[in-house]
Amino acid sequence: MCGIVGYVGQRSTAQVVLGGLARLEYRGYDSAGIAIITPGNALVSHKRAGKLSVLRDDLATNPLLDGTTGIGHTRWATHGPPTDNNAHPHLGDEGKLALIHNGIIENYELLKRELVEQGETFHSDTDSEVVALMLGREYRDTHDVSTAMQRVVARLEGAFTLLAVHANQPGVVVGARRNSPLVVGLGEGENFLGSDVAAFVAYTDKAMAVGQDQIVTITPDSVTVVDFEGKPANATPFTVDWDASAADKGGWSSFMAKEISEEPEAVANTLRGRVGAGGIVTLPELDAVLGDSVSISRIIFIACGTAAYASMLGAYAIEKWSGIPATVELSHEFRYRDPVVDASTLIVSVSQSGETMDTLMAVRYAKEKGATTLSICNTQGATIARESDAVLYTYAGPEVAVASTKAFLSQVVATYLLGLYLGQHNDRVSAELSAQLAQDFEDLPDQLEEMVQTGARIKELAGWMADTRSVLFLGRHVGYPVALEGALKLKELAYIHAEGFAAGELKHGPIALIEPGQIVFVVVPSPRDPSSLHAKVVSNIQEIRARGARVIAIAEKADAAVLPHADEVIAVPFASTFMEPLLAVVPLHIFGMELAAAKGLDIDQPRNLAKSVTVE
Ligand code: G6P
Repeated sequence: MCGIVGYVGQRSTAQVVLGGLARLEYRGYDSAGIAIITPGNALVSHKRAGKLSVLRDDLATNPLLDGTTGIGHTRWATHGPPTDNNAHPHLGDEGKLALIHNGIIENYELLKRELVEQGETFHSDTDSEVVALMLGREYRDTHDVSTAMQRVVARLEGAFTLLAVHANQPGVVVGARRNSPLVVGLGEGENFLGSDVAAFVAYTDKAMAVGQDQIVTITPDSVTVVDFEGKPANATPFTVDWDASAADKGGWSSFMAKEISEEPEAVANTLRGRVGAGGIVTLPELDAVLGDSVSISRIIFIACGTAAYASMLGAYAIEKWSGIPATVELSHEFRYRDPVVDASTLIVSVSQSGETMDTLMAVRYAKEKGATTLSICNTQGATIARESDAVLYTYAGPEVAVASTKAFLSQVVATYLLGLYLGQHNDRVSAELSAQLAQDFEDLPDQLEEMVQTGARIKELAGWMADTRSVLFLGRHVGYPVALEGALKLKELAYIHAEGFAAGELKHGPIALIEPGQIVFVVVPSPRDPSSLHAKVVSNIQEIRARGARVIAIAEKADAAVLPHADEVIAVPFASTFMEPLLAVVPLHIFGMELAAAKGLDIDQPRNLAKSVTVE
């Protein structure tokens, strides 16, 4: 994880770097630091434990001398607690070189022993400092940061994005990457480096994704890319379609509040231009690899966290519509159990960031086994998207709050589009179903808007639950992933015990948890659902109510059967089975946020988490 920014150009480097860090802070917020080469060719730096605001406050009273070359880092701690000393940058070459790092250097203990024997002194507990000291030593030999970087990366094992500057090379920032992300922002007379485009989108929409095992050197007028052996290499250029304002709070109290309000738009944007007359889905980006979908014998979704719950809905829909068996696996479990994967397997990775290390490694594993890989991703130029055979972008726009909301909804509709596309290609989807789903998709943004409007009532509920220590969530079929997602949001945001259960599983254990006053959210299927699950879930409500549970039902507007048994009903507009979960999840997103707010917690940056988990 960790956010990384580099800049060379004529603007205030301190401002550009601190601004970039503010946009990347979702990646980690245990500490922050900055290093600048001043016009007099001195290296100045400052770093502090805590959020970026701590560093900013320090710099407001004691500003660093500004310059035209700099790097900055916001940390998610792996090796060593979040202290001032463990914050980045780390220095080498007697304070003339500064280095920042995202990732884990797996062989750092060995390297550290060598450096200590060579007389180097360490000032931190981090794995990263070994790289700073090694780079410093190699710089003294080569007098060039890029050449020094080539020598150092050859000795590193693990995952890393590294950025380095040296006081004797003003106007130069050198970056290197293996398994962690690095993107170049291309300006006029200035260039940028960032963990993702959010770092520089305020200045340029022209970008280049640095490839695996590449070293990049930026100056104000040039970008040079070589591989780890120093041979010329190419990075992939692309245009960023996020504008800078999309990553601003725009008057909202939190990014999460803003992003929930954008859920209808995220869904509309992901669907736009992809569903034509009669509900025919066009996804030209998939045609080359999936046009002949008859050759696919099974689909395995791989994802983590919220993206895994979105995948569950996708798997249900795809199997139903296309007849192709579809399952979901957590990325970090998948490759360690020696799964059967072959050329007829389609691996669909779902990831907002496109950088989640567990998912990236699972994709690579599947490729090695000969599977076709498809990425459902929200971030242009992300590593998983680039390494997959095809990519289906979601268009949720930048998601900054750590807890995922609008991205979840856009992921679900993207999987539905995939399901329809496959079902239409293998003639399993009737014209009638295609037309019905097209209508459902059209209705969805307005219905979601209606759900966003439930916010005021949810806020009241959260207010009186502020002292609650445990909340359970029940759902069945498409309501089950919603229950899991509702529980995850409470854990992430409100730090309380929360569990999502398949309602049918209740009697097999979880019902023992019910005691008087236990709050249970129940996602109720539509009474018109042909599967007859409605009656079963209403029975579950009665069972837990009889044992003293306080039930908050999320149920269809006209569902009279639920009213007598629920303490509270959150009404959902009428929708078909696969659209119901998209509507039902919105109040749960709001609930997680409002309960955190009622407890006075940081909504956008919950403790111990980071949005983009780029370590295994
Ligand atoms: C982290 C975040 C979750 C997110 C998961 C997957 O754990 O805290 O909110 O769902 O990563 O992220 P991805 O970027 O792969 O969708």
